[in-house]
Amino acid sequence: MSGNGSFGLVGVMGWPIAQSRSPILHNYWIDKYKLNGRYVPLGVQPDRLADAVRGLRALGFRGCNVTMPHKQDIMAMLDSVDDTARRMGAVNCVIIGDDGKMSGTNNDGRGYYSSLIEVSPSFKPASGPIAILGAGGASRAVIVALLEEGATEIRLINRTFERAKSIADEFSGVVKALPWERRADAIDDVILLTNATNQGMTGKPPLEISLAKLPKSTLVSDLIYVPPETPFLKAARERGNVTVNGLGMLLHQARPAFKAWFGVMPDITPDLRATIQATFT
Ligand SMILES: NC(=O)c1ccc[n+]([C@@H]2O[C@H](COP(=O)([O-])OP(=O)(O)OC[C@H]3O[C@@H](n4cnc5c(N)ncnc54)[C@H](OP(=O)(O)O)[C@@H]3O)[C@@H](O)[C@H]2O)c1
Repeated sequence: MSGNGSFGLVGVMGWPIAQSRSPILHNYWIDKYKLNGRYVPLGVQPDRLADAVRGLRALGFRGCNVTMPHKQDIMAMLDSVDDTARRMGAVNCVIIGDDGKMSGTNNDGRGYYSSLIEVSPSFKPASGPIAILGAGGASRAVIVALLEEGATEIRLINRTFERAKSIADEFSGVVKALPWERRADAIDDVILLTNATNQGMTGKPPLEISLAKLPKSTLVSDLIYVPPETPFLKAARERGNVTVNGLGMLLHQARPAFKAWFGVMPDITPDLRATIQATFT
């Protein structure tokens, strides 16, 4: 049992941590719903993670988010990790029960899927092939969520083929690895095209891909939210595709975490979006 009475202490662990928008996001909701609590940034160097995790319990935290570089390493330090996080190979949310037990989950994939449905409510992952560019940690979270939502064919296209191949081997049958050179051709019949590389982020070159063969009906998403519209998303929008940026994923993954810690499922409003968006300019 926390010694903090009704005060709900939560935060985000990472290194570095100053760039995280999660404190602004969760504290916005704490204030909006007039709750007694605070969400704090927790800068934890990699070799101090075990001490920090033990400290959470001692300090009476209700839980925390976990970001780079701790998402994998923290798994072995928790009392339990759910199936979704295991399949993703990473935890992004820790919940500490009244008994002090620490459980890990990962809301990134569900957040991503919710952000798609918010923009395109009729989207059905099972209704056709999906192409994902990039095979890093975020891509893996997206793949697991799309599989959980019934995807039947995911073409995973990555600059380093072996990385895509190892994910495809793990989720054999539905996920197929394709070489990077085939990206422009492999999108000619997809219902969803997602950029899960870092190409197009502020400070990085644009993603190199021709959209000439992409159907106009394909939903196009980018996990990047800085800038709000990458050159890839701009090109897709200008040729008539519906597009989704990564801000929705960030906002939607936070909702179930907040509910677990404070018992309130918070809303994503235009004012909240504008508040977070303003921190990027
Ligand atoms: N919206 C959200 O809430 C959210 C959450 C998490 C991440 N993200 C975003 O998702 C993106 C990926 O993050 P991550 O954590 O998965 O990163 P990561 O594990 O480092 O993976 C990076 C990916 O980008 C690819 N890549 C890097 N340079 C490239 C290049 N020059 N050409 C083609 N591909 C290249 C890598 O390919 P190789 O395997 O060949 O190196 C790899 O597939 C980032 O932009 C991140 O900001 C967004």
